[in-house]
Parts: sequence; structure tokens; C-alpha cells
Amino acid sequence: MASRPAHIHPVFDRLLQRADKETMLGQHGLCIWMTGLSGSGKSTIAAELERRLHAEGIHTMVLDGDNVRTGINSNLGFSEADRTENIRRIAEVVKLFVGNGTVTICCFVSPTIAIREQAKAIVGAADFVEVFVDTPLEECERRDVKGLYAKARAGEVKDFTGISAPFEPPSEADIVLRTVGHDAAESANELLNHILPRITLS
Ligand code: ADX
Repeated sequence: MASRPAHIHPVFDRLLQRADKETMLGQHGLCIWMTGLSGSGKSTIAAELERRLHAEGIHTMVLDGDNVRTGINSNLGFSEADRTENIRRIAEVVKLFVGNGTVTICCFVSPTIAIREQAKAIVGAADFVEVFVDTPLEECERRDVKGLYAKARAGEVKDFTGISAPFEPPSEADIVLRTVGHDAAESANELLNHILPRITLS
């Protein structure tokens, strides 16, 4: 991680602390980091999970690759270096949200072990739940919701994850969601049961 730049004087000690925010909200901040191929179902599960959490009175934020890449990361593409910078910036943003007591649901392909380790190191391992949305490439390609797999096969989209760029499945995810044969509501439910004990204030 980069060291602190010169002539910068953070004021964290004068600000309200994370515990103050969490007490007010009545919840713990947490990062739910979903990794998986494009079209694997991350965003659909995230939307369902957020609705379920909202109904439980939990304050949330969803961060999603396609959205973030139209704003803060609109200058980044899909080279390994750009993906690394994409995830670095996102993880720094997630850290701010989690420190503010928000349950932050992240949907990013984040295709390599190194990229996900970077995210975990920035957010902090204690606040990081890694979720592998495990949908086989053949199924993502069959669904091809955004038409990108067809374009990648035709060579119109380059460096496409799973086709012309690597995806390294996590070997030690905290939770694995297999979407074939399970709808988004089932997956969100499984996830909800896993994370609720970590969000609830004791
Ligand atoms: S990441 O690899 O840097 O984590 P991110 O999650 O932000 O990727 O963005 C992935 C989304 O961008 C995909 O769901 C897809 O809609 C779109 N996309 C466009 N080009 C590519 C590409 N070459 N590889 C993967 N996804 C792409």
C-alpha cells in the first residue's frame, strides 16, 4: 500500500468515531464483496439482498462495476493495471462507507486473487466478507444479458473476463453462492443469514 504523502495532516482524531456512528444506526458496518464473472448474478443478488436488509432496518449502499465505471472510474478500462486501480479506488471508498457504519454491498468482477487481496487489505480483513458468485462461464455466456460475451467472441470487446482475460476463482471465499438452480431470492437469503449476526449490535 502507498505510504502517506508529504504535507498531509489527517484530522481523524477530531472527528466522531465509527462506534458513534454504529451506535446511532444500531448496526455494524460491513463490506460484502461479491466476485464473479460478468453476468454471474452479482448485481441481481445485491439488489435483492439490499431490499431484504432495508426491510430489517439496516442502512446499506450498493457499489457496482457498471455504475462506478460511469463516474469516479470513468477514465479506466480493463487492462490488468486499470482493473487494479479500479478496485483500489473502490476499496478506499468502501472503507469510508464501512467506517461510517454502512453495510456496503460490492459487485465487482475483481478477477484475480491479487486484486481481491488488495481490496481486503484496504478495507480491513475484519470488515470484509468475500462472496463468490459461482456461475460457470457456459451459463454466463448462455444468459449473455448484456450481449458482451457475443461481442467478446467476435473480438469486438477485448480483454473480456473468462474469454480473453483471466478469472481466478477464490479458493477460500467466506461464502459460495451457486446460482444455477437457485434464484436470486434464495441466494440473497443464504447471504443474509450469513451476515446478519455480523451486522447486529450486541
Ligand atoms: S473489474 O474487473 O475491474 O472488477 P468491473 O466489475 O469494474 O470489472 O466491471 C465489469 C463490468 O464491465 C462487466 O459486468 C461488464 O458489464 C463490463 N465490461 C466491459 N468490458 C469488460 C471486459 N473487457 N471485461 C469484463 N467486464 C467488462
